[in-house]
Amino acid sequence: MYLSFFITGTDTGIGKTICTLALIRHFQQKNLKVIAMKPIASGCEETPQGLRNEDALFLNQQSSLKIPYKWTNQYSFLEPIAPHLAADLKDEKIRLGKVVFYFEKLREKADIILVEGVGGWRVPLSEEKTLKDLVQLLDLPVILIVGLKLGCINHALLTAEIIQRDGCILKGWIANACDPTFESEAVIEDLKRRINAPLLGKLNYNSDIFEQMIL
Ligand SMILES: Nc1ncnc2c1ncn2[C@@H]1O[C@H](COP(=O)(O)OP(=O)(O)OP(=O)(O)O)[C@@H](O)[C@H]1O
Ligand SMILES: [Mg+2]
Repeated sequence: MYLSFFITGTDTGIGKTICTLALIRHFQQKNLKVIAMKPIASGCEETPQGLRNEDALFLNQQSSLKIPYKWTNQYSFLEPIAPHLAADLKDEKIRLGKVVFYFEKLREKADIILVEGVGGWRVPLSEEKTLKDLVQLLDLPVILIVGLKLGCINHALLTAEIIQRDGCILKGWIANACDPTFESEAVIEDLKRRINAPLLGKLNYNSDIFEQMIL
């Protein structure tokens, strides 16, 4: 069975990368070859090898196969700002076809490819395109990471609803305890009733293994 997923979240900084790394481990424990991509990244460091993004480096290192950095991350922008604005600054255009090209190359080598998005769901990639267009081209089901903190019910419901309204498949959502002070039990139960897709698993604060994972 072939499984690949697009990983989005309720916001930036709510645990997409932490959860993607935990998903890599989860699938590797099932003896599957997993490769993760972060095709578009803003907020990079200058290095002798070129611009490098921290998320992309982590995902590249944890993947089951050694692959060149560019296969993980096709678009790297220095400034930690919205990618289409960062691309404008460089006078560059994000071409979705380039991401699809690398995804197809990786698909031949791995059992599972996990593609981390950038920011939240309605992130523009150019004047005309948003993340949704990339997800549709890649033809991937979506996993929504819900960062459990105040305000997350609204963000989670809006995001889940719009993913489905965009015509994408919401495989399910992951409850990520990104804030150790947040009382999340009642919120998780509430979201289970309201989101029209299953809770796939939970990641506790400072944990790297899912408490439950149905994938
Ligand atoms: N379950 C968790 N336990 C501990 N820390 C967490 C957890 N989830 C998120 N964090 C912390 O929150 C911060 C943001 O997490 P992460 O980088 O995974 O978010 P992201 O959604 O991938 O962000 P970006 O939009 O920049 O890609 C990190 O410092 C991370 O360590
Ligand atoms: Mg990230």
